[in-house]
This record gives sequence, C-alpha cells and structure tokens, in this order.
Amino acid sequence: MAKLGRFLILGNWKMHLTQQAAAELAAAIAAQPQAAEVTAAIFPPFTALHSAAQAVKGSAVLLGGQDCHGKDEGAFTGNVSAPMLRDAGCGLVIVGHSERRAQGETSAQVQEKAEAALRHGLHAIVCIGESAALREQGGYLEFLTRQLHESLPETAARDKLSIAYEPIWAIGTGKTATAENIREVHEHIRQELGTLNGEKPRILYGGSVKANNALEILSLPVVDGVLVGGASLDASAFSAILEAAAQIDSNRASGNPGQHKAIL
Ligand code: PGA
Repeated sequence: MAKLGRFLILGNWKMHLTQQAAAELAAAIAAQPQAAEVTAAIFPPFTALHSAAQAVKGSAVLLGGQDCHGKDEGAFTGNVSAPMLRDAGCGLVIVGHSERRAQGETSAQVQEKAEAALRHGLHAIVCIGESAALREQGGYLEFLTRQLHESLPETAARDKLSIAYEPIWAIGTGKTATAENIREVHEHIRQELGTLNGEKPRILYGGSVKANNALEILSLPVVDGVLVGGASLDASAFSAILEAAAQIDSNRASGNPGQHKAIL
C-alpha cells in the first residue's frame, strides 16, 4: 500500500449504497485533486468493494473494509476475513467500531481482528469511545484506557495502525466533541501508548465531522485525521474535509498558522 500521509481522512459508508451508487461516489471523490500529505480512504459495504475499487483505480484514494474476522477462514457465516479484504483491493480495515461493539463485540475480539489485519498487511483503524452516560458520570478516561489496551494487538508494530477516538454520543448525533474534549482524550491516549512502546500511531477523531467543523478539528495538533460517517456519503462534503486537511498542511509547511491560530 502507498505510504500514508500526515492526515488520514476516512469515509465510513456504513450500510449505505449499492454497487452503482458506490462507484459514482467513489469516482467523484477520486476526481478531486489530492494533496501529498493528505490520504483519503473510503470504506464501502463489502458488496460494493469491487465497484468502488474499479472507480478509484489509478487515483490516490485508498479502499478499506468496515470490519474483518479474527480468523483467516472457516465456518463463520456472514463474516469476511483480512486476506479476503486484501484480495478485494483493501489496504485498511476498521475494527471495533462502536456500532459493532453495540452488537456484542468485545475488546478481545477487536484485538484478534486487529492482529489479523496486521498479519495480512492491512492498516488497522482501532476504534474506542465512551458512552454519553460514562461521559456524564465520569471515569471515561479509565474506561478508554482499558478499552485501548484490551483492543490493541499485543505484539504488532504500533506504527501499522491508527486509533480512532469516537465518543459514542457524538456519532451520528450532530453533537461534536469540543476541542477541549478531543485534546484531553488524544493526549491521554498518546501518553498511554508512549509508556508501552516508542511507536507513534496516528490518533484520529470521529463523530459528526462535517464540512463546517473539519477545519477546526483537524487544526488541533493532536489530531492526525478524521473518521467520517454521514458526511462521507456526500462527495462535496467529503471533498471539503479533504481540502481542510490540505489547507492546514500547507499552512504548517509554510510556517503560517493563518486563520487557525486562535484554536491551536
Ligand atoms: P458520523 O459517524 O460522522 O456520522 O457521526 C462517524 C463514525 O461512525 O465513524
């Protein structure tokens, strides 16, 4: 897989789009000019991986799976394995999304999935996030610490994966975490991982990222990218998020904090 840029902008299409619609959206995203330090990846449903792969062929847009099983093959009805995703043209995979954890997926299973992904050369996006109740009652940092350690592969090189902090209360709700919420948790994750291993995985934010808040979120130095759900189904909204990342990158490269200074 191509080397990943400074920013990862990931579009999780969830259970949306049939083959034709997926190909059209993928083609529209692939047609956008892409900055060198901004890596875009789309995560169509399994049934549309092939048509999306055809549509992004020759472009810099990467393809990923929304989940994989921890085993390579076997009697696991309805599941798809990491080598199958590789075969379908994927370079990345999301594991441990809260919508899967809500269906009973445990952190031990997420860990097994992340290990399978890395074993087969897929960049794993390991999701963690607390509920609204935990956020209100406190103790969410301890919860996230446990979820993080239980979900991460035991041995694998941590530079081959990214962590996505996705507070459940911000997913699909239109309620975005504040800059202070994000900074607190991302710094906490960075600290936790630092004590385990010298590697520096990317830490992404997810939860109601839209065209109108991407610039503010991506401007935070602790944010290495975003995992976008709803807005990734709209080519112009997703492109605007890619442009926000490109703008920040070029401002940083020129040493000009520009209009983002106020929130850094
Ligand atoms: P959302 O979803 O952007 O629609 O909130 C984010 C996600 O589930 O990854």
